[in-house]
Amino acid sequence: MDLQSGDIASYLDVQFRRSVADLASITDISPRVLQDAVYVHETGLSLLLAPAEGERGEEVTDRSARQVVSALRGRHEVVVLDCGSRLDSANAAAIEMADTALLVTTPDVIAVRAAKRTVRMWERLQVRKAEDIVTLVNRHHRTSEIQPPLVQKITGTRIADTAVPAHFKELAAVVDAGRLHELDAKSTVKQALWTLAGELGLLQPPGQPAKELTRASDRGSLGLRRRGGAR
Ligand SMILES: Nc1ncnc2c1ncn2[C@@H]1O[C@H](COP(=O)(O)OP(=O)(O)OP(=O)(O)O)[C@@H](O)[C@H]1O
Ligand SMILES: [Mg+2]
Repeated sequence: MDLQSGDIASYLDVQFRRSVADLASITDISPRVLQDAVYVHETGLSLLLAPAEGERGEEVTDRSARQVVSALRGRHEVVVLDCGSRLDSANAAAIEMADTALLVTTPDVIAVRAAKRTVRMWERLQVRKAEDIVTLVNRHHRTSEIQPPLVQKITGTRIADTAVPAHFKELAAVVDAGRLHELDAKSTVKQALWTLAGELGLLQPPGQPAKELTRASDRGSLGLRRRGGAR
């Protein structure tokens, strides 16, 4: 849903010509049609990518975004939507539909001001209320002047208990190789992301059936879970 600049394919070194734009003109997205548009990655993740030609992002209207999100929700336990940092009618629809909206910021003045503007814009456009947004502090460091409680105060959102530490060295090699999924299990960034997944209710305890979900009122770059999903 970061329709012009989506870069998940680069992070996971995937070359695939189908994208969410191929679903834009389809009114009834059958499981088969969805399956054909999705790239099944070696990790088991199913990827519905942004179009390689950014201008094709315009083909995805708010109506088609709603249909795509509903189709994904019907087929997958957990759906995570990267909405980028620019609001358009398609990702606005996705943010509105999400069980959880996770707004990612970094602990510096410019990024926190931008996060505040995003929250206010979502409120003005009735996309999402501040109290329905969870803000994640990424690249956290305990010595930074800006700490999570201040981010909470400035944005008026709930702050995730988990912050993701800044650790460029851990990430550099795997990111440059497009093999983010091979990040070492001992990586502090990876461990924090697992903790965050648990905090957001995305992890299913081993051996337990996925619990039935009610549409949660919590919320971020955006995650969705489907009815019966485990997020
Ligand atoms: N916790 C971290 N520690 C160190 N570097 C990080 C961390 N998280 C992300 N980065 C680096 O920051 C850069 C930007 O990250 P990313 O692409 O996730 O940003 P983004 O928020 O998606 O940006 P955009 O809004 O343009 O989509 C990348 O080089 C990434 O490796
Ligand atoms: Mg991005």
